[in-house]
Amino acid sequence: MSYETLLVETHDRVTLIRLNRPQALNALNSQVMNDLIAALGAFDADDSQGCAVITGSEKAFAAGADIKEMAELTFADTFGGNLFAGYDRVIATRKPVIAAVSGFALGGGCELAMMCDFIIAADSAKFGQPEIKLGVTPGMGGSQRMARAIGKAKTMEMCLTGRMMGAAEAEAAGLVARVVPAADLIAEALKSAEAVASMSPLATRAVKEMVNVAFETPLAQGVLFERRLFDGLFGSEDQKEGMAAFIAKRAADWKGR
Ligand code: CAA
Repeated sequence: MSYETLLVETHDRVTLIRLNRPQALNALNSQVMNDLIAALGAFDADDSQGCAVITGSEKAFAAGADIKEMAELTFADTFGGNLFAGYDRVIATRKPVIAAVSGFALGGGCELAMMCDFIIAADSAKFGQPEIKLGVTPGMGGSQRMARAIGKAKTMEMCLTGRMMGAAEAEAAGLVARVVPAADLIAEALKSAEAVASMSPLATRAVKEMVNVAFETPLAQGVLFERRLFDGLFGSEDQKEGMAAFIAKRAADWKGR
């Protein structure tokens, strides 16, 4: 399958999705959104694939929603048309998705990275929510996901001033899982994705669901949700296999059931 705004490579168990609008620093227009919906849907449906990596170019992961496409929109277009609702598909992806960020991740670009399960940043990465400079606000979840990731003080500052945050600051703040040299970004992200994809697919989905529930529920309810998913995995062949393999000192052969 080929896409107008994405380059998609399937490696052994890992799908690499590269945003590809170099002339616009990968600005997220409606075609990118539709292509991402299709590519992530195909990834989720493909049993041979266990983890996806979304990346951009060396200069830009994505410099935001497409300002030229948005400039003349009306309230009826945005609210009536539910402008960014298609990105709910990114969140709905059941298998893990890693963002590999080099260069600018601004506005919708930063928000897309934060929709992923974790971010690996090149030392060149620059994150920001500069919408305030355009007379608007984050609109793809940035104020909410950033506040949950790094707290109120920094989120307010980022969203109110529109300043950019470098990779080291983003790592110290907890926005990114780790920072790697720019030249190693894709190799490191693929290595992480391969590690994720080598685990039991059932346990992997359970981890994704339970960590995400931590942001939606009170602690006791979240802990109960975790325990019930943990209990449920004892109904899987993969739990028997994983523990038997540990005891026999051999690699596990996951079946995904
Ligand atoms: N939308 C549309 N086009 C964009 C774009 C965007 N978000 N960001 C960059 N481009 C285009 C530029 O217009 C330019 O195109 P032309 O050559 O046709 O003029 C091309 O990409 C290269 O950009 P620059 O010449 O500006 O490159 P630079 O290196 O001088 O600056 C930059 C880089 C600082 C990232 C600058 O491009 C910039 O500030 N971009 C906009 C960032 C932004 O405001 N993002 C938020 C968008 S709103 C949003 O995302 C809402 C939301 O929450 C969903």
